[in-house]
Amino acid sequence: METQSKMIEITKTKNSRINEVDFDNLSFGKVCSDHMMICDYKDGKWGTPQVLPYGPMPMEPSSKVFHYGQAVFEGMKAFKDEDGKVWLFRPEQNFNRINISAKRLAIPEFPKEYFFEALETILKLDKDWIKPGKGNSLYIRPFVIGTENGVSASPSSEYRFIIICCPAKAYYSSPVKVTIAQQYSRSADGGVGFAKAAGNYAAQFYPTNLAKEKGYQQVIWTDANTHEYLEECGTMNVFFRVGDKLLTAPTNDRILDGITRKSIIALAEDDGVEVEVRRVAVKEIVEAAKNGELKEVFGAGTAATIVPFLGFDFNEEYYELPKVENSYGSKFKTKLQDIQYNMAEDKFDWRYEVKV
Ligand code: COI
Repeated sequence: METQSKMIEITKTKNSRINEVDFDNLSFGKVCSDHMMICDYKDGKWGTPQVLPYGPMPMEPSSKVFHYGQAVFEGMKAFKDEDGKVWLFRPEQNFNRINISAKRLAIPEFPKEYFFEALETILKLDKDWIKPGKGNSLYIRPFVIGTENGVSASPSSEYRFIIICCPAKAYYSSPVKVTIAQQYSRSADGGVGFAKAAGNYAAQFYPTNLAKEKGYQQVIWTDANTHEYLEECGTMNVFFRVGDKLLTAPTNDRILDGITRKSIIALAEDDGVEVEVRRVAVKEIVEAAKNGELKEVFGAGTAATIVPFLGFDFNEEYYELPKVENSYGSKFKTKLQDIQYNMAEDKFDWRYEVKV
């Protein structure tokens, strides 16, 4: 074992797999970089984080996470600029959010210094896995799982915090068609919709499969009580451009407080665009699509960045979106990526340099 960090035990891989990877043909999340971090919680405290070669980890079949889904996660990206400098985008936000998610799932908070030291250590070791050029990134997946053995339905007394990384290109390679939820729901008042809880995603798979059978890649979820208001998409928050205004739903206990979402709001406002953060009615958007006022709809998320929607289905009717010049989606995607890849001034102080 080598210990180069004050607080982390480091074991470097002896067999890097990087030469086996075709970086031009990546399937999102399929290949992991050489190193990962694990840190165990036991007897009421987090132990020493360990950075080690990525690989399988033995677990007991009775581990709580397999039975009750006590698991939360984050999604982040590391970017490399043309000078080989490595950048994270608003990582404090991810750190805060994983602990907000953890609290809701009765998981103990993870220490900030461990989170940042682990990220910096992995990114230093795996810096060659981050390719320069817009669209290339190393997707970082921090997650926590309940590891105590025993199938009684109670919070785990033991946890493992893990960070793995996957080289990534775009999550969606082309614009998507979506359908508006009228039967199934993603989240409910007082539930866990705001958290990045693993089960929030599992619960969407079946209705999303039904949507896919009809040719739609994603579902725009509506409020569970009335299905009258648009909330978020499976892997993204959603923006609607009506005329020259940008509309998006406010965050609440059903909607994820997306970091890309809040960055787009800030960039749009800074650009002089009127942004209305308010409940967006399905009726209003269908009406705007019919009368030509609905110019564009796009999704925003870490993995997806910004993805334009081609059109949406509601009540078995498909509304195709027009092709707009000067689309907000592509304008704010460019502005966002220019900051992420250190190609523009960072007036909001969002970039975080990792010394590799
Ligand atoms: C992300 O955008 O990072 C997410 O967590 C969405 C994920 C389901 C790919």
